[in-house]
Amino acid sequence: MPEPNRGHAAAVTAVRGEILDFVGDPAVQGEAAHRHHHDGVLVVRDGRVAALGPAAQILATLPADAAVTDYRGKLIVPGFVDTHTHYAQTDVIASHGAQLLDWLERYTYPVESRFGDPEHAREVADFFVQELLRNGTTTAMVLATTHKVSVDAIFEAADLRSLRLVAGKVLMDRNVPEQLRDTAESGYADSEELIGRWHHRHRLSYAVTPRFAPASTERQLELCGRLLDRHPGVFLQSHLAENRMEVAWAAELFPGSRSYLDIYDRHGLLRERAVYAHCIHLDRKDRQRMAATGTAMAFCPTSNLFLGSGLFDAQAALDLGVRVGIGTDIGGGTSLSMLRTLDEAYKVCRLAGQDLSPLRAFYLATLGGARALYLDDRIGSFDAGREADFVVLDPAATPLLARRLATAETIADKLFAFMVLGDDRAVHATHILGAPAWRRAAP
Ligand code: GUN
Ligand code: ZN
Repeated sequence: MPEPNRGHAAAVTAVRGEILDFVGDPAVQGEAAHRHHHDGVLVVRDGRVAALGPAAQILATLPADAAVTDYRGKLIVPGFVDTHTHYAQTDVIASHGAQLLDWLERYTYPVESRFGDPEHAREVADFFVQELLRNGTTTAMVLATTHKVSVDAIFEAADLRSLRLVAGKVLMDRNVPEQLRDTAESGYADSEELIGRWHHRHRLSYAVTPRFAPASTERQLELCGRLLDRHPGVFLQSHLAENRMEVAWAAELFPGSRSYLDIYDRHGLLRERAVYAHCIHLDRKDRQRMAATGTAMAFCPTSNLFLGSGLFDAQAALDLGVRVGIGTDIGGGTSLSMLRTLDEAYKVCRLAGQDLSPLRAFYLATLGGARALYLDDRIGSFDAGREADFVVLDPAATPLLARRLATAETIADKLFAFMVLGDDRAVHATHILGAPAWRRAAP
């Protein structure tokens, strides 16, 4: 259960402005998938959505002492859901000139080695969570490092701000530098301890986190399956089929497996609440298996372009009914902004000969992400009873955005301008459980 709203005294508050949310996937349900109010009111009671509707109808129903924040002229959407990122790679962003395996060795492992120091972990975790809020992200699925204290740091930072967060200790017992290596048994014991400490505490959930198949022995993957079986409701996060050299390496290390995905499948790691980042070099059988098991994909476009990994096939995932969310994948990814990430997602789709409609892009960043995480009964839309996490987007954030939006006639056109031209500057405010958790200072 979320904590009672920490930020304000009044039990009932409301925000007024242009409001958009989703009840389904626009690629499946078309126009019926979104709800749009030009002048709407979202009512919040004790941190949860109490009502949504046109201002003309809702204002009259509010108690006399309800505080109404006037966001007219701005666009309110559900808080963004980042389904894959690494807080400990904040200082890896913009590391030049490498593809995945080189990039891990040269840049990433050295930076992650510092997270055994709780002070360092805390400093980076605080910075990272503040960045999430500044970018309108209100739920994130996050890899820590191999160190237990790195997990404590990110959960503490999120809990302090009542942010919904799924995170876990990275498990890797081979093929990584000695100082980052755990063992199958120590990783199991550490994960259990962390599950006991953090899972279902306030808005936090634990994810069993094998880094990727090449960094785990069969025994470690087997114990990941055991952790999930013994702790229902716990998540799983990992990487899958991101880079051709990585795929070849996985095949060498697990010669009996039909495919990279099959390595995880054989260890019982395809299931609901399991999220795999990248999922680029897959075949039809793999995608069918992911759909059948309720396993989700995190589409990480900025990372896939930056590391030269390949083009995610969004159409194939949609056609086969696989759950998909969007991931920033910091620090292979290059921005914490979901708007920047959607822009790159659009371009990846274009390169793959596909379209990504603005409505579907915003669906993927909100309700789609919530569905990928099986959290859509709590977040991702403004249905009554949902936790009231939302973002207020400012059409006047930059001169160019203001100019382009002046000619936008439809909500789809508006969204497209926000995702192509917007970044953290377009986030006017971020509300967590109804209360403002971030507000942009006046320029
Ligand atoms: N595969 C294994 N580890 C990582 C990581 O840290 N980032 C990315 N992008 N891919 C990975
Ligand atoms: Zn990643």
